[in-house]
Amino acid sequence: MKFQAFSEKQRLALTWWCPQSPYCEYDAIICDGAVRSGKTCVLSFAFVLWASVEFSGQSFALCGKTRSALTRNLVEPLKELLGSIGFEVVEKPGEHLLLIRMPSGGWNRFYLFGGKDEGAASLIQGMTLAGVFFDEVALMPKSFVDQALARCSVNGSRFWFNCNPENPYHWFYTEWIQKREEKRAYYLHFTMEDNPALSPDIRARYAHLYSGVFYRRYVLGEWVHADGLVYPMFSKEQHVYQTHPRYERYYISVDYGTVNPCSMGLWGLCRGRWYRMRECYYASRREGVQKTDEQYYRMLETLAGTLPVEAVIVDPSAASFLACIREHGRFTALPAKNDVLSGIRAVCGALQDGRICIHESCTDTLREFGQYVWQSGALQDAPKKEHDHAMDDIRYFVSTILQQPNDGFFVASAARS
Ligand SMILES: Nc1ncnc2c1ncn2[C@@H]1O[C@H](COP(=O)(O)OP(=O)(O)OP(=O)(O)O)[C@@H](O)[C@H]1O
Ligand SMILES: [Mg+2]
Repeated sequence: MKFQAFSEKQRLALTWWCPQSPYCEYDAIICDGAVRSGKTCVLSFAFVLWASVEFSGQSFALCGKTRSALTRNLVEPLKELLGSIGFEVVEKPGEHLLLIRMPSGGWNRFYLFGGKDEGAASLIQGMTLAGVFFDEVALMPKSFVDQALARCSVNGSRFWFNCNPENPYHWFYTEWIQKREEKRAYYLHFTMEDNPALSPDIRARYAHLYSGVFYRRYVLGEWVHADGLVYPMFSKEQHVYQTHPRYERYYISVDYGTVNPCSMGLWGLCRGRWYRMRECYYASRREGVQKTDEQYYRMLETLAGTLPVEAVIVDPSAASFLACIREHGRFTALPAKNDVLSGIRAVCGALQDGRICIHESCTDTLREFGQYVWQSGALQDAPKKEHDHAMDDIRYFVSTILQQPNDGFFVASAARS
């Protein structure tokens, strides 16, 4: 990696703890703001510098959302950076531990934790720490963060946080950012301009990947509510088509409901773009009759016709319908990935860069795009549970079939997933 001179904001994050700094009396630092704005890179480096200058023979915690995300996003680039200035880094992978020392300094121990990994809070429970670094703290449970902070009993210990904005009711915003003076935390807000490695072109490309609430959070770096339409970028002009192209591959996605509506969509691929060719939507309440799994299966067969459908992606909670499809033996039935928020982000990305579009005959989908909204004022981001059936089957399709690791949008969001 080719390093560039740190930006002014990065220099503040790098040096706030030094005795000459006007901010050295603070006990903690919080860096929040836009994606790719250079927070993790500078703050993790500053954390190890601080630990190495101030301590020897102590233990520290480096925490990410999961240990594997931490290793990928933080540890690998950090090792390279430390190596380039003469630090020694010894890895103890089985123990999830790094031993680090600066030239002619003493060794310190840096334990790696994934805040969302099972049992993380109990693993950190017995430790005595001189400092904790939290990467993407807003994605960790408060219980884990509180437990880690409670372990910092060494004199001079400090807390280091960074994250992207979320909902303004989020515990980290209300407990730490809003109470930063009371908590004696130094606060720095980052924008993409604070990363000297991003050219204006790349900044513009990131800006184009997001819209609506995700644009305000991940590009503008604001802590804002998810409000209004979930997919404000959907437009008839851009996403609705009339003439069927020649399709190469097929999938079906299903949101299963017996009391609630059941929605099925047939997808065809043509030149890298997925087309929702046709759909069926059955609302038992409206029709006054509930269908059995067998009747739904016949609907599915009618939707597929004679096409070679590669798989049917089904709502993972619909165990009986998944079993029914498998028993018939014609289709491969796959349970869908069902993380709602990352799925919604994935659909936003697919709409944004035109990888999915909808045939004009799919009237229930077109109606729901205009009606599917966020729950306003909710403590956590959540879409309202209405007008969401075609929306759910589309989300299942996109998160299960479209989400490719090398795709630009998902590289951008990988840090959060
Ligand atoms: N001074 C610099 N010189 C070279 N590359 C840099 C510099 N600062 C940041 N980068 C690079 O820019 C990219 C984004 O930086 P980083 O991961 O620190 O951003 P971030 O704010 O943590 O992003 P996210 O919110 O998406 O996690 C990384 O590849 C990082 O190595
Ligand atoms: Mg980061």
